[in-house]
Parts: sequence; C-alpha cells; structure tokens
Amino acid sequence: MQFTGANILSVNQFDADAITQVFTIADKMQPYAHRKKRTRVLDGAILGNLFFEPSTRTRVSFGTAFNLLGGEVRETTGMESSAIAKGESLYDTARVLSSYSDIIAMRHPKAGSVAEFAEGSRVPVINGGDGANEHPTQALLDLYTIKKELEHHQLSVDGMHICMMGDLKYGRTVHSLSKLLAMYKNVHFTLISPRELCMPEDILGLLDSAGHRVTVTERIEGSMDADIVYQTRIQQERFASLQDADQYRGKFRLNHEIYTKHYKPNTVIMHPLPRDSRAEANELDNDLNQNPNLAIFRQADNGVLIRMALFALTLGVDHLLEKYETDVVWHSEKANI
Ligand code: NCD
Repeated sequence: MQFTGANILSVNQFDADAITQVFTIADKMQPYAHRKKRTRVLDGAILGNLFFEPSTRTRVSFGTAFNLLGGEVRETTGMESSAIAKGESLYDTARVLSSYSDIIAMRHPKAGSVAEFAEGSRVPVINGGDGANEHPTQALLDLYTIKKELEHHQLSVDGMHICMMGDLKYGRTVHSLSKLLAMYKNVHFTLISPRELCMPEDILGLLDSAGHRVTVTERIEGSMDADIVYQTRIQQERFASLQDADQYRGKFRLNHEIYTKHYKPNTVIMHPLPRDSRAEANELDNDLNQNPNLAIFRQADNGVLIRMALFALTLGVDHLLEKYETDVVWHSEKANI
C-alpha cells in the first residue's frame, strides 16, 4: 500500500504488509506518546479535525497524536456550528477546509459521507467513523491491542476465539474489526446480540468465505474458551427513537460475576468506549475495573500510537522522527503529596 498522500477511508485498503507497517511505526511512537522524547517532525503542519458527531476519545486522540508530532490542530465539532447547517455540500466544505489544512480527520453520521468529502479534498482524509459503516482507525488500534494482549499470554490472532457482544448491527467498530480479522486464519467468532441487532449479512458472508468459524447466538453461555470478549454499547443514535433503543439496553451485560462464570480466567476484556454506565445499560460494570484482563484503557492509549503512525505515514515523515527529536524538559507526573 502506498501511504503517502493516501486517504484512510476503509479497512479494505489494508493488506498484511500495510498492517505490519502501521504497527511497526506505532511501536516507534511510544517514547513520544509517553513524553520521554519529543519530535517536531510535523512542525508547521495543520490537522483539520472535523467531528460532526459526538466524540471524546477519537477526536482528542487524533488531535493529541498530531500535537505529539509537532503539528497544530484546527477543530470544528457538531453540525449546528458549521456551514453544513446552512445547506453547504460536503464537497464545498472539503474544497475550502482542505486548503486550510495539510490533512483532515473527519467523523460524520452518514455512511459513505467521509468518502464523499474526500472527493472534494485536496489533502488526505482519515475516516474517524461514518455512520454505522466503518471506523478504520479504531479497528487498527483494536487489532494492535489484541495482538499485544494475546502475545502476553503466548497466543496469536490466528486460531484465536473472539466473542463480540451487544449491538453488532449498528456498531461500526465491530464491522471494521471483523473485516480486518477476516485476513487472519482460523479465527472463531462468537457473535452475541439480540436477533434484531446481529452482524450484517455481508460481514457474516465475508467471514464464512474466508473459512472462519462463526457462531451467531443470543446467549452468552458457551463462550468458556474465548480469548477476547469485545463488548459494545447499544448505538442509540442510530435507532428511530430512544424507546426503540431502550428495549435492548442491559440485555448483554458483563460484570465480575458473569465474567467469572462464562469466561476463562485470562480472557481479555475490550470495549471501544464509551461504555454506557447508566444503571439500565451498564454493559461493562465497574466491578471489573481492577481486573488485570480489562484492556479498555490500554486500548484507548493505543489509539494515540496508531493515529500518530497513520499521520506519519500519510504525510511521508515516518523515517524522519528521530531527525526532529528534542528532549522533554518538564515533569508531568503527579506528585505523591
Ligand atoms: C465508538 C464509535 O464512535 O463508533 N467509539 C469510539 O470511537 N471509540 C463506539 C461507540 O460510540 O459506541
């Protein structure tokens, strides 16, 4: 895959070599992300960070990743505060904003919208989530996390058993992650959801034709040998009404008791976050917070490394990180007083 100047719109663009390349650069980003060293390799570059849908982690980690490489971030959030609310097309917005930026990250509620925007953009565009369709950077950080967590238990992605649970119909993170995992060998997918919220047919077909074992179920039982359990939130914003979403909230919960009963002691617990912690949902209980297999915050931290790697690759500076390196002179660790 030719990264320099490329849009990152879908996981379908990635092959095994491209994934390895992203993960190798992500590993190199650790000292910068951990404030051991600085690099000013993107000094003077501008990221246009356009989020037309709610976001905390993805938006801030895109911005943080760009800042950590020395670049500046210009941001717009919400439809109502942008000219899209006045009827401007995505194409026009893209033509204008791309001349203010060197690269654009974008999230939008409509499937296919980021690709449409990219057609009008003069600079590379990275998809931060387009409706229920795709979330490629999340899938890369999820896969990176899965690999690291499994390595810790001397396991690999080939041959693993992953349980995906919750809203598999509207959850774009599980769509993109499944497509990436389809590239590996002999993965066992247990897909746990209410029947109405099951994984889309095209993705089931893809997993099937790639020779993976797929178990579709409405029951949490039977997951005893899972290596990963990937919990998701009911994507209420994609339902016709909140009442529609309400009927599914809290149906598939994970807490200490359920985890201990249905999973083996080392099963890694993941969630793209945010977890819905309201009592009626609470799909991932706080009583698992001290469990060492809870990887959700490591997963979120890895998002910065992956997004730094994608910026460095698409802007063609991945080989120049050390050249623009400087020391960190401040101390941001909290004192024990
Ligand atoms: C996810 C998303 O926006 O698709 N969040 C994220 O980017 N980490 C999942 C969700 O909102 O449930």
